[in-house]
Amino acid sequence: MDDRNGWGRNRPEPTGPTLDPPESFVEQANVTDTSDDQPLGEQFERDWPDCWERAADLLTWDESYDTVLDDEDAPFYEWFTDGKLNAAYNCVDRHLEAGRKNHAAIRWEGKQGERETYTYQDLSVAVNEFAAALRDLGVEADDVVTIYLPMIPELPIAMLACARIGAPHSVVFAGLSADALATRLDAADSEYLVTCDGYYRRGDAFNQKSKADNARLSVDQDVETVVVDRLGDELPHVLGDGESDYHELREAFAGASVEPVSRDAEDMLFLMYTSGTTGDPKGVVHSTGGYLAQVAWTARSVLDIRPEDTYWCAADIGWITGHSYIVYGPLALGTTTVMYEGTPDYPDRDRLWEIIDRNAVDIFYTAPTAVRAFMKWGESYPDSHDLSSLRLLGTVGEPISPGPWRWYHDHIGNGECPVVDTWWQTETGAILISTLPGVDEMKPGAAGPPLPGIDVAVVDEDGNAVDPGQTGYLTIPRPWPAMVRTLYDGDDRFRAEYWDRFSDPDVGVWRYFSGDTAAVDEDGYITMLGRVDDVINVASTRLSTMEIEGAIADVDGVAEAAVVGRSGQQGGTEIYAYVSAASDRDPGETLRETILERVETAIGPIATPEAVVFTPELPKTRSGKIMRRLLEDIANDEELGDTSALRNPEIVGEIQSERNRS
Ligand code: WTA
Repeated sequence: MDDRNGWGRNRPEPTGPTLDPPESFVEQANVTDTSDDQPLGEQFERDWPDCWERAADLLTWDESYDTVLDDEDAPFYEWFTDGKLNAAYNCVDRHLEAGRKNHAAIRWEGKQGERETYTYQDLSVAVNEFAAALRDLGVEADDVVTIYLPMIPELPIAMLACARIGAPHSVVFAGLSADALATRLDAADSEYLVTCDGYYRRGDAFNQKSKADNARLSVDQDVETVVVDRLGDELPHVLGDGESDYHELREAFAGASVEPVSRDAEDMLFLMYTSGTTGDPKGVVHSTGGYLAQVAWTARSVLDIRPEDTYWCAADIGWITGHSYIVYGPLALGTTTVMYEGTPDYPDRDRLWEIIDRNAVDIFYTAPTAVRAFMKWGESYPDSHDLSSLRLLGTVGEPISPGPWRWYHDHIGNGECPVVDTWWQTETGAILISTLPGVDEMKPGAAGPPLPGIDVAVVDEDGNAVDPGQTGYLTIPRPWPAMVRTLYDGDDRFRAEYWDRFSDPDVGVWRYFSGDTAAVDEDGYITMLGRVDDVINVASTRLSTMEIEGAIADVDGVAEAAVVGRSGQQGGTEIYAYVSAASDRDPGETLRETILERVETAIGPIATPEAVVFTPELPKTRSGKIMRRLLEDIANDEELGDTSALRNPEIVGEIQSERNRS
């Protein structure tokens, strides 16, 4: 494996002083260790995989399953085989039947200060009407419906409407470009799209439909499209052929009721494209039963969600965090989930604290990149609000170092809320590594032990467990219910991406490789150290260096490009691009700007490099491989590793001085 992100540099930092979960929290926690002397993990261990029945028990099944785990055809595992259920029924209808129809399901906070509350009854009406409309447009079970919406209530409504009729959704983050949408429509062969006219970005109307239009023009299939009118007169639009208006459809199907389609536990609930080790995004396939069971279980045990809570995960539903922990997990538990359309600093830097204060939010889950920003802005913003409703804090997306962890704990949680640092991935579907907030002590800087029912092994190149404190590859030797089932692009790629590296099929050993490096301490706590593949986590968003390189290489005048991550000041990663221009091109400002524009067009503004460093050539090994590790060292201003394998060692000095100039 080409250690593109140079794990050699990453050594575990010492964790901060250990903290016990606060007594007041433990007393009320959903999961505590009271049954006997055994730590909870060991209780689970005794009856693995049947322990996962406890997760399945959180759901309402149309038909119960026969087998908890079927591992006959590993690594194509099946969970809760022959069970039948509907995800939308579990997230909506059953709460009405339980007499909770007037309970708030979604509290939406719009960018312009708008507020809307959807009770479970309101949600049910919306989901049924839109499900009827989708059917009328021709959507059948197993048709992939692509959803390209910002953080407006119609996004979860559309997802649940799809789930109701058994049509897998493929949500594409609204900030991605037309090209990125087209790639995803094409890869999923999707003939249905739900999008909107536009949305507000920092107060300005921004046109989303034109991106959707361009994407539709560049795919082969006809794409039947539903447009949500978000902006009204602010951004007038006309509907063309194959386009319908969301609100008119809702009206046409007012009061409709659609029987939830009973799905096999293994049927695909959704597809989520994510960055992989090649330029093409991977279509991660998630199941209905195993996925929903485990997200509900972790939402309950790790995020400590109860129906009467107001819970807020400040992520975007366009990524996996929002799927699992804004939509499916919280709604399966029947709680109130807050949905925020805006950014943390608009209109001012106290926006999130104002929302927590006003809604009396109990649980807050965000990304380390956000915590670092809050810390930089200073405590006067949270201090000006009453945050005493908070009971638990969480983070996800990248490592959180002890400093920001402490700040979050002290200034947002007032020292009274446990902080859970949750490790998981698009592919894992649900949280796999975290402390249980009512059970485990916390070690700032370490995510925690594997959750009950989860097995993690940190191994060396040969797959042997490394000693405590040593860095290794994070692998998962046993399957788990919410795991990726395959890649939409094919089973071969699924095996190649996750299984081939550390499995030994001849002796029946299958081990999932996460792409992350980690270290385990004497207590089994895992510190995450970053990716070893072409994935970089920028502002807690997962991007592919290869995809960015591909976009840059497309620019006329660029000969070659290499993209690496550079550590930001307070943690976090920035995108650093090295580019060699074609011999007849002047590597100047114009080319730099064209490159930045091209990345924005190909992927979206989130992928725009922080720096573009021009170099006459990229450093290469004698076999012609770009030495990304070296480029990363240069970007990070670190001492350079061994350069003896380079074919063109003289280039290193030139790149360094160019870097210092830029
Ligand atoms: C990283 C997001 C350290 C990791 C749910 C992983 C983390 C990638 C943590 C997945 C954490 C996520 N500590 N690193 N608590 N959580 N990561 O697919 O590198 O967008 O492989 O899923 O984010 O990103 P993805």
